[in-house]
Amino acid sequence: MATHSLLILPGDGIGPEVMAEVRRVIDWFAANKGIAFDVSEDLVGGAAYDAHGTPLTDETLAKAQEVDAVLLGAVGGPKYDNLDFSVKPERGLLRLRKEMDLFSNLRPAQCFDALADFSSLKRDVVAGLDIVIVRELTSGVYFGEPRGIHKEGNERVGINTQRYTESEIARVARSAFELAKKRSNKVCSMEKANVMESGILWRDVVQEIHDTEYPEVELTHMYADNGAMQLVRAPKQFDVIVTDNLFGDVLSDCAAMLTGSLGMLPSASLGLPMANGKPKAMYEPVHGSAPDIAGQGKANPIACILSFAMALRYSFDEGEAADLLEGAVEKVLADGVRTADLMGPEGGTPVSTTEMGDAILAALDAA
Ligand code: IPM
Ligand code: MG
Repeated sequence: MATHSLLILPGDGIGPEVMAEVRRVIDWFAANKGIAFDVSEDLVGGAAYDAHGTPLTDETLAKAQEVDAVLLGAVGGPKYDNLDFSVKPERGLLRLRKEMDLFSNLRPAQCFDALADFSSLKRDVVAGLDIVIVRELTSGVYFGEPRGIHKEGNERVGINTQRYTESEIARVARSAFELAKKRSNKVCSMEKANVMESGILWRDVVQEIHDTEYPEVELTHMYADNGAMQLVRAPKQFDVIVTDNLFGDVLSDCAAMLTGSLGMLPSASLGLPMANGKPKAMYEPVHGSAPDIAGQGKANPIACILSFAMALRYSFDEGEAADLLEGAVEKVLADGVRTADLMGPEGGTPVSTTEMGDAILAALDAA
């Protein structure tokens, strides 16, 4: 059986703590299911800056380009707030996305039944929710030129540019339609075609790709502000949402919170196929580095563990192992095991990061 190569980049804040639990899960699959992993580990973000003066070294990037999959924890923290923009921890993450050309970012928002009461919305609105936001990840206002802060007369002006080419829109649209075919055959595309030319182009290109290549998929368009409103009003009307980099950033945080906790949500960032036919890929939890709770053993490792499950499915062709792992997480939640972020209205005593890992490993043993 092929050995799966995996580069682990724990990063900053709670990243290393949650990643430690993933490593135990990886060891479990190696020991109990005979799945062979070749795991290497490296620095990214503030941790890389501290060691090397840059949030991502060329060597680390080169390794990331070679492996079957990258698994990243989180980057950033207050310690780095005053660094020059070019070496901020986030730049390391953005460089990985850009240089690996990971244009399609899948952000599922799934409401686990055991957690439906934890959402800030009513149970009826969120119970059974299962949607995916496909966020364009390598272009748009995150990378557009010109950008910067300059002086005009005696005041400063800040500039960022929203820029999309047809081919950039087309390829992320295709990935959304492909995903929809494996789900409910339904895509909603979000932009601001009422105020932005890039939004008009976005809408046109998504529609063209639909009409010529995916006529069997149901396609609707929505202005992104209305989309935000609909996400909190009636999120179950959606299945796959496709949108640009910045709207996707905002809308995915909104969708994440519908499920009760940001600590639960994994993501996959996929690029072009490699020699093995699998897409170049990086997996990361949607949550950030949570500096306020870092180092205290309070963090919820589930988002990172579920990100590894996505790697099993999309990069390693180990769908059965992914099902097993996702089932173990569901079982643990149904049993009432809760980290601090999952303390709902009924209260209780939270478990630590490691205890959550223990519970998931025990559920895997019992499965
Ligand atoms: C995300 C994050 C990143 C982003 C930051 C950390 C650069 O918010 O992955 O959603 O804005 O894309
Ligand atoms: Mg974000």
